[in-house]
Amino acid sequence: MDSPFSLKNKKILVIGASSGLGKRIAIESAAQGANMILVGRNEDRLKQTLAALQGGAHSYEVVDINQTESVNALVSKLSGLDGVVNSAGIVESQLFSFLKEDSIRQIMETNFFSPVLLIQKLVKKKKINKPGSIVFLSSVSGPLLTYIGNSSYSASKSAITGIAKTMALELAPKQIRVNCLLPAMIKTELLGNIASSQEDLSSDEQNYPLGGYGRPEDVAYAAVYLLSDASKWITGINLKIDGGLTLR
Ligand SMILES: NC(=O)c1ccc[n+]([C@@H]2O[C@H](COP(=O)([O-])OP(=O)(O)OC[C@H]3O[C@@H](n4cnc5c(N)ncnc54)[C@H](OP(=O)(O)O)[C@@H]3O)[C@@H](O)[C@H]2O)c1
Repeated sequence: MDSPFSLKNKKILVIGASSGLGKRIAIESAAQGANMILVGRNEDRLKQTLAALQGGAHSYEVVDINQTESVNALVSKLSGLDGVVNSAGIVESQLFSFLKEDSIRQIMETNFFSPVLLIQKLVKKKKINKPGSIVFLSSVSGPLLTYIGNSSYSASKSAITGIAKTMALELAPKQIRVNCLLPAMIKTELLGNIASSQEDLSSDEQNYPLGGYGRPEDVAYAAVYLLSDASKWITGINLKIDGGLTLR
């Protein structure tokens, strides 16, 4: 009998699979037997993720989630999804007083509106199986704490946790679960876009009780759990993955 933690024969869509956490989630999900569909804008990096996946029938789609036509084309191609993970996201570090309207809108577009509207289309067009699992990458930043210069990013992540709770309630009768992962700092490409010096990052690492920043697999293993039948009675949660940061 398969382990309840297995993803054998599950079809899972990962949005933002070309790098960082989405890439690692795709790799670990495939290692548990899932068939992956990878989405991102950068085809070369999607191919690199694809090449790193074990077994299964995997594929990728080059899609900018902010482009409605290509999202609609993606949705029409998909069917029978057992799981959807949104890991697409961008970050900008800017003091509140200097925030530009365009950049606030851009962060909200990529981190909130586009993934939510894509998943709404998947639900309305019955592309997600019953039972099914939706996992959003939120963050500790916003729902639980924040950093100087992180206002629009924090707002976008709080918005995701807010809508995910209501989605969880409304989609429960369809046996579609909706959960959020709330990582603290994880070493991925995204860190390069945060305008801190290496010294600032190294001293920030001292704040983590379990020692330093997390690794992409720390988040990926939690995603595998939420995608698997082992978590079938769990919906509407915010699972923090933070090395103990928010205990302080
Ligand atoms: N790393 C951390 O410390 C951390 C902590 C908490 C939460 N998170 C959240 O976790 C998620 C993943 O972060 P990460 O560190 O893995 O970042 P990353 O390495 O920069 O990856 C971001 C992913 O999003 C995709 N993406 C961005 N804009 C897109 C668009 N318009 N259409 C389609 N795909 C798009 C990128 O693909 P393309 O460039 O190919 O489009 C890439 O695959 C984000 O939502 C982030 O906010 C990260």
